[in-house]
Amino acid sequence: MNAPTGRISARRLVLLLGQWRAAGSRQGSAGLAAGIRRLVLEGELPPGTTLPAERELAAALGVSRTLVAAAWEQLRADGFLRSRRGSGTWTAQPNTPTAPTALTEQPLDLARAAPAALPDILAAFDRVRDRFAVELGGHGYHEVGHPLLRARLAERFTARGLPTDPDQVLVTNGSHHALALALRALTGPGDRVLVEQPTYPNAIDAIRAAHAVPVPVPMPEAGWDLAGLAATTRQAAPRLAYLVVDFHNPTGRRLDAPGRERLAAVLRRTRTPTVVDETLVELDLDGDPADGPPPMAVFAPNQVITVGSASKSHWGGLRLGWVRAPAEVVHRLVAARYAFDLGSPVFEQLVLAELYADPEPLLAARRAQIRTQRGALVDALREHCPSWGFEVPAGGQSLWCALPAPISTRIAVEAQRVGVRVAPGSRFGVHGGLERWLRLPYTLAPPALVEAVRRLAVVAGEVGGETAPGAGAGLVPVA
Ligand SMILES: Cc1ncc(COP(=O)(O)O)c(C=O)c1O
Repeated sequence: MNAPTGRISARRLVLLLGQWRAAGSRQGSAGLAAGIRRLVLEGELPPGTTLPAERELAAALGVSRTLVAAAWEQLRADGFLRSRRGSGTWTAQPNTPTAPTALTEQPLDLARAAPAALPDILAAFDRVRDRFAVELGGHGYHEVGHPLLRARLAERFTARGLPTDPDQVLVTNGSHHALALALRALTGPGDRVLVEQPTYPNAIDAIRAAHAVPVPVPMPEAGWDLAGLAATTRQAAPRLAYLVVDFHNPTGRRLDAPGRERLAAVLRRTRTPTVVDETLVELDLDGDPADGPPPMAVFAPNQVITVGSASKSHWGGLRLGWVRAPAEVVHRLVAARYAFDLGSPVFEQLVLAELYADPEPLLAARRAQIRTQRGALVDALREHCPSWGFEVPAGGQSLWCALPAPISTRIAVEAQRVGVRVAPGSRFGVHGGLERWLRLPYTLAPPALVEAVRRLAVVAGEVGGETAPGAGAGLVPVA
């Protein structure tokens, strides 16, 4: 980023920095530099954000200008800040350091929990050619989704125990797009949106981008804090809730049927519209997907807006997801959609419809693949990181690891030096924190997972019990 693109006030920066002295290092300037690095790494200070003048920030923080200048010098040396006379000082994304060995030539990306496509998908591309040729004679705009795909997705919901009409289905460009539409249609600036904590980081970003306020309900050691969810729903009166009960990201947990009934009772009583994210529902690794607890919408049909996706079951590059909701909610979402886009690509929709004509063989192959990868990751961690705690989830695609010390960001930053990308625990919290946690997805092939864990073990050993974020890493996109 060679030029600044926005600015942040001293007041807001002080707010974002929070307890930088306590959380950072003993020396003031190092602690301030660590705080700024964290904000850049977590995306709170995007590259190109002009910072307040040194004197102004020093006054707002109640520190000397020398301290701020020393922090800025360190950050400039690390590539996190740039300055130009007359333009001020702005944040930058540092270049990822050149890999020191051949081993690190290909970064092992554990920040994106997204598997590659199974090769079988390619055949579906060939099979839809003729049908696609027919489509070319039409206008190609399907703002609610291609009728064939809507019908197939409705069949899949019905087979999973949630009777569904095609007119209750809206095809979107991924489930993240579906959440954005729901936020757009159902919330306004300042509205509260209840979320689990930890939760899917991009959902937090989407809520903030909609000018709504994420209200976290912490997850306990196991399962969900349903009493806490009920209390927060009563007290905060959220306009919307966003929950991931089928292989929660990042913990991999699944809410059982009695829990769904209790949760649904709260949602019904408080009439809280709730986006239930089923992106990971097909990755049921230990059970028979047909025997899982009924979808949340069975329990609260008027409140639940189910969003789903082909990204983890089939391939993220299809960029297809969907909403399943009462038909009038689908209409509201379509109305909101016109401001964003006018439909999803027809070819990909035909491919996905083809894949859903007989979904089971491919989904079974996907589950077997992810199950093997989960085993490889679990074994590698037990061998190389024996002090890291985790539960083996029954589904989903990640382990939520309890670290022996609050070093998650430190590991994530230093890991880039050895060619591994991971998302630190703080990305999964509404206000950061969660430094004792690290999400490790099992979405790579076993040899890559073993190698990544080996390198992470070395990095973890090096950073030991230090807590301040280090230097030298760029923004890591998370999926
Ligand atoms: C819980 C959850 N929701 C949504 C998404 C985004 O999915 P999509 O690619 O369909 O937008 C992800 C991707 O990792 C996810 O884990």
